[in-house]
Amino acid sequence: ADSRRAKLLEINKEAAKYFYYQLRTERGSVGMEYLRKRELSDETMNHFGLGYANKYSNDLIQYLKSKGYSEDLIRDAGLCNVDEKHGMYDKFWNRVMFPIQDINHRVIGFGGRVMGDGKPKYLNSPETEIFDKSRNLYGLNFARTSRKGNVILCEGYMDVIAMHQAGFTQAVASLGTAFTSGQASLLRRYANEILLSYDSDGAGVNAALRAIGILKEAGMTGRVINLEPYKDPDEFIKALGGEEFQKRLDHAENSFFFELRQLQKNYDLSDPEQKTAFHREIARKLCTFSEEVERENYIEAVAQKYHISFENLRRLVGTYAAQTG
Ligand code: CTP
Ligand code: MN
Ligand code: MN
Ligand code: MN
Ligand code: MN
Repeated sequence: ADSRRAKLLEINKEAAKYFYYQLRTERGSVGMEYLRKRELSDETMNHFGLGYANKYSNDLIQYLKSKGYSEDLIRDAGLCNVDEKHGMYDKFWNRVMFPIQDINHRVIGFGGRVMGDGKPKYLNSPETEIFDKSRNLYGLNFARTSRKGNVILCEGYMDVIAMHQAGFTQAVASLGTAFTSGQASLLRRYANEILLSYDSDGAGVNAALRAIGILKEAGMTGRVINLEPYKDPDEFIKALGGEEFQKRLDHAENSFFFELRQLQKNYDLSDPEQKTAFHREIARKLCTFSEEVERENYIEAVAQKYHISFENLRRLVGTYAAQTG
C-alpha cells in the first residue's frame, strides 16, 4: 500500500514538473501572460510551482507514458478522463495549473483555471487514493511554518497566492469545497485563532457562517475580516495593498457579532414584533455559551450593541437556558 501511494505521489510530481516546464516555454506564454496580468511575480509563480496545461491534446499522457508510467496509473491519479468515444484523454487542457500540496510539500492533485470566461472556471483533480479534499488545505504546507500565531482561511487559490505574495504567509484555502471538520482539526495543530477571509458576496457570507459553526465545534475561535467594497482578498490586496489588508486583519470582527449582524438582516427592527423576535433569537444564541463568565460578558456586550436592557436580556437568556437544560 505504501509503494502504491509512493507511485501516485511520484506521477503527480512528474505531472507538476511537466506543467511547470510548459508554462516557461513559448507554448505556455498565454499562461504566463495571464498570470502576469494577475500581478504574480516570477518568484511567486515558482514558489507555488504554477504551471500550464497546453492545448495540444494528450501531451501529458504521452509524456507520462514516455517516462514509463502505465495508463492505469495515469487514470488512477486523476490526470485523464476516459470515455467510450474518445478513449483516454488529458483532463487538463489549456489552463494555468495550481499544484495542490500536502503539508510535506508533496503534490497530491491540481486545480486548473481557464484563462477566459470558459466553464468551469476551475477544474480540480478528483479525489484519489492520495487526495482527500476534506483533509487538506491549499497553502498549509507554507502556512504551517509561518509563525504568525493565526491562520487566515479564504476561498480560493488566487486569494492564498496573493496574500502570500503580500507577506501573509499564514493564508490557506479549502479546496473548492465547503470547509470541513477534518480541515478544522488540521488547523488546530497550527493555530487557535482563525481569521476568516471569505468572499464578500452572499455565497461567501454563507460559507463563513458555516465555517464559524465548524470552528466552534472544534473548539476554536474565529474572527471575520471585512473586505468591503472588494470581493475577495486577491482583489482587495490588488486595489489597496498589504498595509490596508493588515488593518482589516487587526479589525476583524468577533464571529458571534458577525453572526448576529447577518441574522439582523432578516428582521425589520422598526417593527416591535420583529424586533422582539430578533431579541429572542439573540437570547437563544447566547445560551450556547456554557461558561458563565463568557456568557455574562457576551450578554453585556450584546445588550450594549443592540440597545437592550442588560437585566431584561439576561433574564430572557435565563428562561431559554432553563428550557434547554
Ligand atoms: N472553485 C472551484 N470550481 C469552480 C469555481 C470555484 O473549485 N468552478 C473553487 C476554487 O478553489 C476557487 C474557489 O472555489 O479558487 C473560489 O471561487 P471563486 O470565488 O468563484 O473564484 P476565485 O478564487 O475568486 O477565482 P479567480 O480570482 O481566479 O476568478
Ligand atoms: Mn473526502
Ligand atoms: Mn466566491
Ligand atoms: Mn478572485
Ligand atoms: Mn473569489
